[in-house]
Amino acid sequence: MKKLIALSLSLCLLTACAPRPPQQEQPTDFTVIGVSQLGSESGFRVANTESIRLTFTEETGYRLLFEDAQQKQENQIAAIRKFIQQQADYILLMPLCVSGWDSVLQEAKAAGIPVILVDRMVQVEDDTLYAAHVGSNFQWEGERAAAWLEETFQDVHGPVNILHIQGTLGSSAQLGRSAALEEAVDRHENWSLLAQLDGDFIQAKTYEVTAQWLDSQPEPPLLHAVYCENDNTAFGAIQALEERGYTCGQDGVQVISFDATRQGLVYCMEGKISLEVECDPMMGPLVEDVISLLEEGGVPDKHYYTRERLFQRQDLSQDFIDQRTY
Ligand code: AHR
Repeated sequence: MKKLIALSLSLCLLTACAPRPPQQEQPTDFTVIGVSQLGSESGFRVANTESIRLTFTEETGYRLLFEDAQQKQENQIAAIRKFIQQQADYILLMPLCVSGWDSVLQEAKAAGIPVILVDRMVQVEDDTLYAAHVGSNFQWEGERAAAWLEETFQDVHGPVNILHIQGTLGSSAQLGRSAALEEAVDRHENWSLLAQLDGDFIQAKTYEVTAQWLDSQPEPPLLHAVYCENDNTAFGAIQALEERGYTCGQDGVQVISFDATRQGLVYCMEGKISLEVECDPMMGPLVEDVISLLEEGGVPDKHYYTRERLFQRQDLSQDFIDQRTY
């Protein structure tokens, strides 16, 4: 599987020849990994990239070909084609959205390059187009958040008004988390979604769309909860709400968020975020386990889910947050 990477030997003209520094021993046989990261829209994403970079180093025998798609699927498709040309041993794909992957994954399969989906999922006709998926179960995460809302508002028989800030539309993270909330709203006659705003998992965009929506209402709406599909959208929404006189927390608007980044947990410990649903981006070691298994000729499972917990204010301490890796 491994390909020999020729180490380039620099030619030294006699005239320019100075004493050479001692040569460092370098592995000459690397496993080449093409990584198509979808972008850098959030704290989660930055940590996810870092985890991959820290895991797959030349010291540990890997050569990384990394492409940042800047939130564009066409860039991801072009990157995969480039990795095929470069004869990568494996391709890691963090897919922006669920659809539109069949052809390019078919090309990778025809070239004999296993594709491992990282973090998000795709919807393809044939699941042999990817070797494995290492990531989160977003529907499960959303269901945990919805169950928390049900418990929190169980004694409220009047209206429960929810503002929904969605992540990148068409991504498996958005689809799973949104579906869980929508199903819960359907189960409760007194719950309503006042609006569903596209925050794209980005803080600045969420601030903008939330501020615009609030300012366009004839009167400041009565809000019981804001369901934000990641920490960055929660930060943007909280800023827009607070600037308009809302209080976020137990005695005001209950903010739900996903990821549980260090900053998200600080907000949670301060009481501004009522519930944090963990979505762990540190997937590098798990992905490496899958690659090692494939190298040994093994057949990996189709899905490997990361551990995800729920956090409320009472579960947190500064020590815990300080030790957080992302
Ligand atoms: O796919 C995971 C989601 O993508 C994270 O919750 C979010 O922060 C990110 O941008």
